[in-house]
Amino acid sequence: QAGLKYFGAATDSPGQRERAGLEASYAQYDETMWKSGEFGQTTPTNGMKWLFTEPEQNVFNFTEGEIVANKAKKENHLLRCHNLVWHTQLAPWVKTTNWNNANLTDIITDHINPDASHWKGHCYAWDVVNEALNEDGTYRPSVFYNVLGEDYIAHAFRVAASVDPRAKLYYNDYNLESPGNKSEAAVGIVRKLRAEGVRIDGIGMQAHLTAESHPTLDQHVAVIKSYADAGVEVALTELDVRITLPATAEKLELQKQAYKNLVGACVQVKACVGVTLWDWYDPFSWVPAVFPGQGAPLPWFDNFTHHPAYDGIVEALKNG
Ligand code: G3I
Repeated sequence: QAGLKYFGAATDSPGQRERAGLEASYAQYDETMWKSGEFGQTTPTNGMKWLFTEPEQNVFNFTEGEIVANKAKKENHLLRCHNLVWHTQLAPWVKTTNWNNANLTDIITDHINPDASHWKGHCYAWDVVNEALNEDGTYRPSVFYNVLGEDYIAHAFRVAASVDPRAKLYYNDYNLESPGNKSEAAVGIVRKLRAEGVRIDGIGMQAHLTAESHPTLDQHVAVIKSYADAGVEVALTELDVRITLPATAEKLELQKQAYKNLVGACVQVKACVGVTLWDWYDPFSWVPAVFPGQGAPLPWFDNFTHHPAYDGIVEALKNG
């Protein structure tokens, strides 16, 4: 973990395991997740999202998020909190009402205030706004953007800053791992917020990569430096590297290289503070449900043995 503040893995509540039909594996999973020393940080994969925390207007429920947050506290893992404003896993009542500028602004305020207050003091960082950008760097249409325009981003960060002055406030998105229109737009968000006097502390590179076609070490280093130049810290927040199945030895080698490049780039650039795998155990990955025919994206196989990628990560942590 040289140079990094933390190396961790996201996890979900036992609900996800039950659905995966893997009851017998709980003990071994828990041992590696919490006790093995492999990870010093975690993020709840789902439980802190709007759908869970405010399923009905002004009805708050922190049960799902607390499962992981309380475990992190008990086991002394740093906690990243995910997320406050996102167009996905959003409670249906937010999507289906016809809002105007004033009342949607209040909805955001009245969501973030109790939510971030509940976990105040426990979150190393909050992903305040998640996935606001299209691939070409324009803003993604969503209930928030369609009604409020880009100002919803500044508003969300202002409210989060007022509630939790100690948590690092992040903009988090995917496909920010090499330079391009989207990474430039993320830098644009940082510069705009700062120009308006709004606090933003970090850019989260989700880092959902594919083994067969992944960026080079130099591309990763260049993009992380571009975020550092904008004055923020950087983290790999949801790292995984999916493979078009079957996971042959050749593809696992490509996957190893992808992990090694990205973790290595994070180690090399001081502004990059930490790495979070998006779970660590293949059967609990989101990938096969969303990309049929793809999978095996994490460093641990179903039988808990290591992918070659595990060694790639270890090498990167040692040598950059
Ligand atoms: O809770 C229900 C359960 O009751 C039901 O039986 C089951 C049937 O499919 O669905 C369960 O909900 C699922 C939920 O995960 C909890 O497991 C949803 O269908 C499923 O869509 C949801 O997927 C999550 C996804 O975000 C939603 O977009 C993944 O677990 C989660 O890993 C993924 O995480 C996102 C990050 O938050 C943001 N970046 C991308 C990343 C990957 O998509």
